[in-house]
Amino acid sequence: MSAAQGEPFRGFGHGKVILVGEHAVVHGHAAVAAGISTGIAVTARPGNGTLRIGAWGLQAAAGDGTPVGRALEAIQRRIEAPALAFEGDARIPSRAGLGRSAAMAVAVARAAAAASGRVVPPETIEAAVQAAEEVFHGTPSGIDAAAAKSGRVGRFTRAGGWQPIPVLQPITLCIGLSGKPRDTAAQVAAVARLRDRLAAAGEALALLGRLADDAAGALGKGDVDGLGRIFDVAHGLLAAVRVSSPELDTLVHAARAAGAVGAKLTGAGGGGAVIALAPAHERDVLARWRAAGFDGFTAEIAATPAEVR
Ligand code: MEV
Repeated sequence: MSAAQGEPFRGFGHGKVILVGEHAVVHGHAAVAAGISTGIAVTARPGNGTLRIGAWGLQAAAGDGTPVGRALEAIQRRIEAPALAFEGDARIPSRAGLGRSAAMAVAVARAAAAASGRVVPPETIEAAVQAAEEVFHGTPSGIDAAAAKSGRVGRFTRAGGWQPIPVLQPITLCIGLSGKPRDTAAQVAAVARLRDRLAAAGEALALLGRLADDAAGALGKGDVDGLGRIFDVAHGLLAAVRVSSPELDTLVHAARAAGAVGAKLTGAGGGGAVIALAPAHERDVLARWRAAGFDGFTAEIAATPAEVR
């Protein structure tokens, strides 16, 4: 059935968490990320280039000069869809470092592709999403977009792209929100300046890339405890390159005190979110965060189905 007959076209983008390797990935090292089950569902109907996402109080239109409006233009130019009105149902918090812009761009691009009446190649969708991400974040590595598309766990490098990592058993992550928005472009620029000034900062980033490979190994073995230790070391290195904050450190320490085997900030840092691994103690972690004045929730990383391992 066509949109003209009332049935909308649909697209979905997953939220993401970077498990290990944020910032390192910008400088050519590896990172490991996971698409989470929650994300953004977008419907598209014939319209005039508008996007509305009620949960975020967001209303924009292609050509209105706002970042979202410019991202919409960038997507529509590449997908060559007819003029559409997009409506988003967002289940991930805004500006929390959980890949909201990439999830939104993937969902919009997929809905536009479905409405185009053509078979749109994956490279075109990828280019549309990357163009939208450049509006928001300057020169992103592309890891957020890759995770938003995949919805699974993968190792990403700028040179090699996204390689899926098989996950043996589902993993529950506690996600704690600092309540402070983060600004990815500003954080990425600050880390790049520190790296130019101090060789040790570059070495910290290289170490984060090595830890990403260790994390891929731990995931492949189902070693949640080992992954937790890796989270802890990664948080220390991210703090060393100055992307943690008092709120993020508080969340990390509270999670460990409540029984987490490891915790770290996730994404660009400065604000945004932390992730913690706390098998059998997830409720304790969320309760301790709440007592300290922070919201949190759990998200599942699904096991890779046996047929695609
Ligand atoms: C942001 O989710 C991850 C960063 O590594 C930036 C990027 O990779 O584009 C901080």
